[in-house]
Amino acid sequence: MAISILNETDLRNIIRMDQESLTAVEEGFAKLSAGLAEVPPILQLMVPENNGELDVKTAYIKGMDSFAVKIAAGFLNNHEIGLSTGSGMMILINSVTGFPKAILLDNGYLTDVRTGLAGAIAAKYLAPEHVKIAGVIGSGIQSRFQIEALYLVRKFLRLLVFGIIPEDVQIYAEEMRQKLGVEVFIADSYEQVVRESQVVVTTTPSTKAFIKSNWLHAGLHITCMGADSANKQEIFSDVFKHVDRIVCDNKAQCLRLGELSHAINDGIINSTTDITEIGELILGMKPGRKNVDEVTICDLTGVGVQDTAIARLAYHKACEKSLGIHI
Ligand SMILES: NC(=O)c1ccc[n+]([C@@H]2O[C@H](COP(=O)([O-])OP(=O)(O)OC[C@H]3O[C@@H](n4cnc5c(N)ncnc54)[C@H](O)[C@@H]3O)[C@@H](O)[C@H]2O)c1
Repeated sequence: MAISILNETDLRNIIRMDQESLTAVEEGFAKLSAGLAEVPPILQLMVPENNGELDVKTAYIKGMDSFAVKIAAGFLNNHEIGLSTGSGMMILINSVTGFPKAILLDNGYLTDVRTGLAGAIAAKYLAPEHVKIAGVIGSGIQSRFQIEALYLVRKFLRLLVFGIIPEDVQIYAEEMRQKLGVEVFIADSYEQVVRESQVVVTTTPSTKAFIKSNWLHAGLHITCMGADSANKQEIFSDVFKHVDRIVCDNKAQCLRLGELSHAINDGIINSTTDITEIGELILGMKPGRKNVDEVTICDLTGVGVQDTAIARLAYHKACEKSLGIHI
């Protein structure tokens, strides 16, 4: 049985932050909300002495001939030794035989793309149609992917960024100016980003909330994607009391691991709270933004269907171009 091995360079060449990848990830979310995906709970391993965490995610989408199993690591001390905090790999499994078809040595690149695109999909359905100012908290990897993906669906004119490491924020601002050709301003505070932007993306591994409810304003959309384990939090839980719409990628998972886990533990939301999944927006089961004044929030914890969607697209494109090593 032949197995293909694709390296990071191959994968970066064939998978881009573009409409094709966005459509694949959208299809994954749609299948999830249509009840056509098997998604087991995430296997989450903590390595506290090294400030590290490892997640294994997978999802089988009914009828598809393959599915991904992904190992993703986030080791926060890595930046001290010049490594990115995120890494990982995916294995594509044949859904008929259970045998592996491909090993995708992406070092976390495919996760970065599919996560950025989840943010873009949230914005596609929930952000105001015209966004003048987009805001981002954090200046790391996801800050880059989220904003590049957001630009696919909303051509904002100005980007406001706030981070806690001034040198990193400077580098980030210059890079995004060049990449997107928009004005980039460094904000003085979290508050300034929220008050002045129509769309805000929070992209940090913070364990202390920083977004406050009294900064919300009409027409604001927030995507919070940094908190993907129960010890992380970017949004004070009472924010969920003051928004008009709560959306997430996977309700059960977000209530366990995302911002929604804090909101439910603090009694801000309960089992009767109306929470929409992104897939329901894609399928038209529930409407996207209803009016210019709505305040919306989307909690993203990352779902196996995104990994299966992007890994399958990568494998398909690699086969077309005869890329990789075959053993
Ligand atoms: N939801 C998902 O699907 C998903 C997918 C990938 C990563 N993540 C999570 O997203 C987070 C960011 O990942 P990354 O790869 O961009 O990490 P990264 O280390 O590259 O970047 C994190 C950034 O956040 C900044 N930061 C940290 N604490 C902050 C604070 N309190 N206020 C402002 N800025 C702060 C850091 O300076 C850095 O710029 C992590 O928690 C990661 O686990 C979630």
